[in-house]
Amino acid sequence: MQIQTCHSITTQTLPHPWTPRNIYHRTHRHRVQPLKSAATAPPSLKAQKSHSMPPEKVEVFKSLESWASQWVLPLLKPVEQCWQPQGFLPDSSLSFEEFTDQVKVLRERTKELPDEYFVVLVGDMVTEDALPTYQTMINNLDGVRDESGTSPSPWAVWTRAWTAEENRHGDLLRTYLYLSGRVDMPMIEKTVQYLIATGMDPRTENNPYLGFVYTSFQERATFVAHGNTARLAKEGGDPVLARLCGTIAADEKRHEKAYSRIVEKLLEVDPTGAMVAIGDMMEKKITMPAHLMYDGEDPKLFEHYSAVAQRLGVYTANDYADILEFLIGRWRLEKLEGLTAEGKRAQDFVCGLAPRIRKLQERAEERARKMKPQRVKFSWIFNKELLL
Ligand SMILES: [Fe+2]
Ligand SMILES: [Fe+2]
Repeated sequence: MQIQTCHSITTQTLPHPWTPRNIYHRTHRHRVQPLKSAATAPPSLKAQKSHSMPPEKVEVFKSLESWASQWVLPLLKPVEQCWQPQGFLPDSSLSFEEFTDQVKVLRERTKELPDEYFVVLVGDMVTEDALPTYQTMINNLDGVRDESGTSPSPWAVWTRAWTAEENRHGDLLRTYLYLSGRVDMPMIEKTVQYLIATGMDPRTENNPYLGFVYTSFQERATFVAHGNTARLAKEGGDPVLARLCGTIAADEKRHEKAYSRIVEKLLEVDPTGAMVAIGDMMEKKITMPAHLMYDGEDPKLFEHYSAVAQRLGVYTANDYADILEFLIGRWRLEKLEGLTAEGKRAQDFVCGLAPRIRKLQERAEERARKMKPQRVKFSWIFNKELLL
């Protein structure tokens, strides 16, 4: 889960309405093809570039296979050692009375949590539940995709096991929310169906350099967000929900470690290629996985959910800048050597970006303070209105 931030930085929005005549996307380096039927594309999508990694670089990933087996796969947890959602939920194998007593206790615990909190938790859950989209995205990356569905390549082994670990997040949050009785499940279920059907546009161009920069950032962002929902659950009187969110956050941190380790290795074997990829992703902005969410009612649902998350401090524009700074430190980008002129340009851009984001955010906050507060209805909480 993440919030869209710092709109004004270098984002190129397409002319609207889209016309096939003036919108093109590039495939490989030379082929330029018109985009398919503009009428079917939502206006929020950007021009789509594909297969931007030069074909010879597929070899980089081939040559890193034994490294990945040694340094990435150990960051997975064996299934037998993994937590499962049932460990945090009322036990349905008990007698009906005992089971319903546990549900009552759960409802007692969540009683004091504010509606704002539920909106954020639902948004997080919906984001987790669109997991098929994320697995698809990773399997779109050239050189690391799962070619057969059971490929023994360490990249494919990682992606399947990562998906299997992630799958527990949405399951657990969904069941907990269902039992709480505080949210409108049919509206949430509709949102998930819409979101998976719509997909996402991370602008990673089938390029694993871009893809792993994106996932490093995203895993860190989800770690931060779930960590904050854990803190708020504890303050709001539900220690089980706090433990649950904290446990999910710990998974995200382990995943972040794996993806950022891959980028670190790419910086070692191909410093300019990796640095330019980081610059490219940061210039385009990290698009949020659920940025196209819709419940059939509110066309600005993602924006509204993000505003609530920002107000509660679950995920803020400052977190975006913090994550960037964290990754700059983690990858030691300021000290990176052996770069070409293009690589150095990307390095300067990325290393100077966080303060610019913070400044833009301050200005945006100032503007927001002068505006009248907005009240928005959320279908997820039975159309109750919240102040944004
Ligand atoms: Fe997750
Ligand atoms: Fe994750």
